[in-house]
Formats: sequence, structure tokens, C-alpha cells
Amino acid sequence: MSLSLNLSNKVVLVTGVSSGIGLATACQFAKAGAFVAGCSRKPADDESVRNFCQEASTETLKALYVQADVTVQADLERLVNTVIETFGKIDILVSNAGVNVFEGAAGCTEDKWNYNMNLNLASHWRLAKLCKPYLEKSDDGVILLMTSNHAYYTIPGCFPYNVTKTAIKGLVQSLAIEWGPAVRTIGIAPGFIDTAGNDTWFNSFDNPNAERQRTIDMHPVKRIGTTDEVGALCVFLASDYARFISGNTILMDGGRSALMQDS
Ligand SMILES: NC(=O)c1ccc[n+]([C@@H]2O[C@H](COP(=O)([O-])OP(=O)(O)OC[C@H]3O[C@@H](n4cnc5c(N)ncnc54)[C@H](OP(=O)(O)O)[C@@H]3O)[C@@H](O)[C@H]2O)c1
Repeated sequence: MSLSLNLSNKVVLVTGVSSGIGLATACQFAKAGAFVAGCSRKPADDESVRNFCQEASTETLKALYVQADVTVQADLERLVNTVIETFGKIDILVSNAGVNVFEGAAGCTEDKWNYNMNLNLASHWRLAKLCKPYLEKSDDGVILLMTSNHAYYTIPGCFPYNVTKTAIKGLVQSLAIEWGPAVRTIGIAPGFIDTAGNDTWFNSFDNPNAERQRTIDMHPVKRIGTTDEVGALCVFLASDYARFISGNTILMDGGRSALMQDS
């Protein structure tokens, strides 16, 4: 028997689809036949949004885009209502939108702390709560929360980002035990992924190629990850093959965390 990830007739809502992991994840769900709804703060006529609508549409249904800021409760409510009005249901939530707030524990202001807690942590809980009644009506409701390898280990200066990402592991556990068996909740913790944001970081060095190679060499698999790989993991976790997975956060970091120290 061949293994196929077929999510046709499933409706997935992905946040943060204007770039990076969210866009690739939306596209992987569309390839598996799911109907895709997505949001970001970009206006609908932005080139990145037009790209999302084209790439995340299936042969039968156009992807839905809603301009929404996930830190604004009214936007979250409008987002969920629009998905229900358009598709009639939500089977899978991929709560992905997030930003790097790298301030350091001494330098971080109250405003930066609150902004990051609101966006990288509370917005996941608020959106999950709004989707809960619809996910419960699904045959297998699934919530996927995007955390990070910073939930397991971190580097100086990445506070409070690492605090929010560590807290998501707890959120995953609470939702899994309180909302199961109707809804499965799983965290995804990517390591170093090849995104425009990380390119910008490489480009901040005098020799970006050398810095990229140094990073690659730190990984036992001798490369960094791709957004398509994160998206494919999300599709698998939302599929019937993953029905025994809930309450865990899956780390995908190319073996980086297995190394005690760099030689
Ligand atoms: N790249 C990595 O190596 C890596 C590793 C581990 C974890 N992650 C996590 O993966 C997720 C995606 O990261 P990425 O690298 O793909 O970043 P990205 O390319 O910057 O994408 C972030 C997405 O979130 C959206 N977004 C940001 N703030 C938002 C808000 N307030 N409301 C709605 N949408 C918002 C952005 O759209 P607009 O700006 O247009 O609103 C964009 O679509 C994040 O949670 C990040 O922490 C990334």
C-alpha cells in the first residue's frame, strides 16, 4: 500500500502567510488537497498576498486571504468568521505568525516584553479558543502551534523570544489534555530554516557566505532546513497517520541539539 497524505475536503487556517514558513506551509497543505485560508497584516493587493492566493489555491477552490493582525482580538474574530462564511468549517489551525524580538534580559523594555508576549504567545491561545468550537465539529480537529528550537536551548540576547517559544510548549500540553480527544494539539519547533529573515541576518556579516557555511557546519546534517520541510511536517501531523500524536512539541533542527559543544 502506498502512503499518501490526502487532506482533500479539509479546511486549514494558517496565520502569517505573506512569507517564510507560513507561506510554504499553506502551499504544502494545498498540494495535499486541503482548502487554505490565510492571514497576515499585508493588504490584499500586496504582491506577497497575490503570490499566496495563487500558490495556495487548489484546482477546485481559490485560497482565501484575510488581512488581520493576530494581536488584535477584533481581527481574530473577523478572520475566523470569514473562514466559516467562506468554507463552512475549520479542521486544522496552523498558528504560525510570530517575530523575533531579541532584546536581552537586561535591555528588554516593558513595551517590548508585552508586544512579544501578545504576538508570540497570547495570540496563539486566543485564536485557538475562537477556532475550538469548529475544530470540535471536525472528525479530527488539529491545532499546530509554531514554536522554535529556542524552546529547548537558546543563545544570549534572544530574550524574550525564547521565553515565549518555551511557554508555547506548555500551551500545547494544556490544550491537548483539556480539548482532547476532539482536538489534537502539537507544537512544531524548527531550528535554523532558510528564510529571508535568516538571509538578512547572514548579510549583516562582513562575509555572509562564510557565516552561512559556519552555520551549516554546526549541523550534523551539514545543511539548514527548508520552509517546505516545515510545511510537510505540518501536513503529516494533521493527517490520519499522526492521530496518536498530541501534546508534544516536535523539534526539527538537523541534529544541532544532539551536539554537546562545537569542536
Ligand atoms: N525562520 C526560522 O529559522 C524559524 C525557526 C524557528 C521558528 N520560526 C518561527 O516560525 C514562524 C514564522 O517565521 P518565518 O521565519 O517564516 O518569519 P517571516 O518570514 O517573518 O514570517 C512571519 C509571518 O508572520 C506574519 N506576521 C507577523 N506579525 C503578525 C501579526 N501581528 N499579525 C499577523 N501576521 C503577522 C508576517 O506577515 P506580515 O509582516 O505581512 O504581517 C509573516 O507572514 C515564527 O513564529 C517564527 O518564530 C522560524
